[in-house]
Amino acid sequence: MRIVAANWKMNLRRQSALELASRLKADGRQCWLFPSFPLLPAVAQAIAGSGLLLGAQDVSPEEDGAFTGDVSAGQLADAGCSLVLVGHSERRHGHGERHPLLLRKLKRAAAEGLKIVYCVGETLAERQAGRAETVTGEQLGTLQKLDESERAMIAAVAYEPVWAIGTGENATPQQAQEIHAGLRAALQRLGISAPLLYGGSVKPDNARELLTQPDVAGVLVGGASLDYESLAAIDNAAMEA
Ligand code: 13P
Repeated sequence: MRIVAANWKMNLRRQSALELASRLKADGRQCWLFPSFPLLPAVAQAIAGSGLLLGAQDVSPEEDGAFTGDVSAGQLADAGCSLVLVGHSERRHGHGERHPLLLRKLKRAAAEGLKIVYCVGETLAERQAGRAETVTGEQLGTLQKLDESERAMIAAVAYEPVWAIGTGENATPQQAQEIHAGLRAALQRLGISAPLLYGGSVKPDNARELLTQPDVAGVLVGGASLDYESLAAIDNAAMEA
């Protein structure tokens, strides 16, 4: 079965998030939902007893304490999360998050029992310089510093080329497959058997072709996950792939 993960980013309000979550539950869908922090408890309640999973978009590297504005892994677990995104490009590039910080976040999440969707992806300049594989390989290298039990908490690795996020320009299925094949081999060397997701302008009309690539086990969807019809269409494509 292919994975469909919905990253709602800083979108939706309580009412619209609840409507979307309730419709997905009523359909019996099994997507992974990543609402923003304040929506987590309400969405957790709405999807209780369904096959939908709840995740957060970020996590503090700290356990507890005086860290204004941060949210701890323990608080996320308390709010009903079983998953968390770490290393999303909007954190790497918008907030300067790099290897040492991401490693601490990974370890904190794992320590609290949160499963991790670890994100990697190159910028347009890096791709044009022929460095896409090197950059994504280096980003994946952060996982080397995890011990065996922490590695077991990697639920998925998402390849999200920065130039494809929110731009309407998705990687071609061949480009996605090429990077995924490299990541697959690197993960194997780390003893991690997590599925690989593709993210970046996934839409109902390109999902099927991406999802039928041998190393594309699912998709991480931003904009097209905010609307029930388009998310349901992508999920249908995933079920048929
Ligand atoms: P878009 O689907 O809006 O391009 O966003 C992709 C993404 O960043 C998902 O995490």
